[in-house]
Amino acid sequence: MERNDIIKEHDNLSERKVEEHENSLEDASTNLRCSPAADSVVYERTSMDDDESTPVSKKAKLEKEPLPTEANERVASISTSTGSFSASVQEQEDDDDHEKEDQSSTDDSSDQSDGTESHDDEEKDRNEESDQKGSSSSEEDFDGDEQVLLDSEQLDLDDDEDEEDASLFRRIIAAAAANGIPLEYLAAHGIHLPIEDDEPVEYPFGEAPTSLDDVAKFIQSDRCKRILCLTGAGMSVASGIPDFRSSNGLYATLDATKLTATEEQIEAIEENPSFSLDQHLFMENPLPCLEVNREFILGVQERKWKATLAHRFIELLQTKTNGGKGKLVRLYTQNIDGLEDQCIGIGHERRIAVHGSMDEAECANCNAKMDFDHFCGLVRSQIKDITGQDPSAPKESSAIVCESCGRNTVKPSIVLFRSKLPDVFFNSVPIDVKDIDLLIIMGTSLAVAPANSIVWRIPKSAMRVLINRERVGWHLGLDFQSNDRDFLASGNCENVALDLMEKLGWLEDLRPLLDRNELPESSALLLRQRLEELEQKPSPKQDQNPNDKNCQQQ
Ligand code: OAD
Repeated sequence: MERNDIIKEHDNLSERKVEEHENSLEDASTNLRCSPAADSVVYERTSMDDDESTPVSKKAKLEKEPLPTEANERVASISTSTGSFSASVQEQEDDDDHEKEDQSSTDDSSDQSDGTESHDDEEKDRNEESDQKGSSSSEEDFDGDEQVLLDSEQLDLDDDEDEEDASLFRRIIAAAAANGIPLEYLAAHGIHLPIEDDEPVEYPFGEAPTSLDDVAKFIQSDRCKRILCLTGAGMSVASGIPDFRSSNGLYATLDATKLTATEEQIEAIEENPSFSLDQHLFMENPLPCLEVNREFILGVQERKWKATLAHRFIELLQTKTNGGKGKLVRLYTQNIDGLEDQCIGIGHERRIAVHGSMDEAECANCNAKMDFDHFCGLVRSQIKDITGQDPSAPKESSAIVCESCGRNTVKPSIVLFRSKLPDVFFNSVPIDVKDIDLLIIMGTSLAVAPANSIVWRIPKSAMRVLINRERVGWHLGLDFQSNDRDFLASGNCENVALDLMEKLGWLEDLRPLLDRNELPESSALLLRQRLEELEQKPSPKQDQNPNDKNCQQQ
């Protein structure tokens, strides 16, 4: 059976049951609110449903009725993203003590091609300990050397050596399908995310958030002291930069045949476009990566894009809370466009660019830096424009040679797939996640590890708010139906950020951005309209919200 057939088989079997779940959850919905000002935005919170057909009880069923014995001999960790998934399979220790091995750690670090999925016994013990504590926020969670950027779409089950894994995977999928368990739940199981807790968790936010008002109130309250943000490409879409995985995103619109690459390389990129940003491919042939990024590199040099309202919301989270001292502990951005830098209030040290940034250049072989403007000059004159928009671009590409080691391996300082994230990520996350009260996740598919691990590394008592066009993160334990702590604001980042800032009484703080023309056009229009609406409304003054204890001081 081919990989696609396996997926189809699972999907056919489970689709009906998933639909039933969705329907029952929709019936059980306690709050479904639409913002009148932005009709594309839906704020959603559905109630906990104890019925046997809820996803939670299905997950419990999976645990009570173990998968076939052969499947249990090994552990699968599976992550999913829109329409596809990957699986890494690992021998499980005979020792019973290791049965509860923390798969989440494996999930983040496993890399089939690199063989980095194996962990030594000592680390397994450490992982087990942290699993038993029920919180993954210990500093030992990360082993920096083993953590590489992983896309959930990167797996080739067709390889001969993977045949055994494919057969195991098939059994697991079949067992899940027979139980009506969507792949996402299987993934959640694989990474041992305890959805049901024996120990009641004490939430600092009291009642579960059921509306964006609740989120705003919590941000303002004294109970919310520490906020983390995790952001992705959706944050910058309003500025004109496409995201990666949407239907009009970089991957879907990439024409691999235009790249300077061998037939095999083109085929591999067509099958999985994120392979164009793969470290191993880059070392073999740097041109596809440079061609894919040409427009982006030059746009960054020309400062073509402006920070969006979503970026400004994060800035105000810092400057307008806690009497101006700020509640933002850290912004972890997966974006490489550097737009956060325009928001001075965020503070350089408070932002971690987990996938590097596009405004520097370095050699992937010897790490020597290259002056960015010099690099851009070489990109402009040596790399062809696959979008066909720059008539001055060369017709053929030629590699950019490192002045230090002489190899063709100069690239923007971004983290390529199957390469390591910056140390600052591994050093900061274990400290930052401690005592977090609120995680705001914006504009990301959460498809890429290990950045997405922040979602489950924070304490269970923390509220998690997802602001995104689509519901994501199921495989990481985000559950807007059954988890009291999770809240989904489904819609455009700009609209939701604007709604939130209005509720927080921060809109007037944005007015200078209009005067200085510092917002993207569409965002400026949105803000101007909202300010006009407010001026016409006979409502209490925005910046004198009596509940806003923290924001008045600024
Ligand atoms: P993705 O393209 O995977 O996900 C963007 C998410 O934002 C999707 O869920 C979209 O539905 C959503 N979205 C798009 N526009 C939006 C908008 N205006 N408002 C709200 N939501 C919107 O991008 P990332 O999750 O950032 O790595 O991708 C993670 C990493 O994968 C990137 O850092 C990049 C990529 O390959 C590297 O390049 C190294």
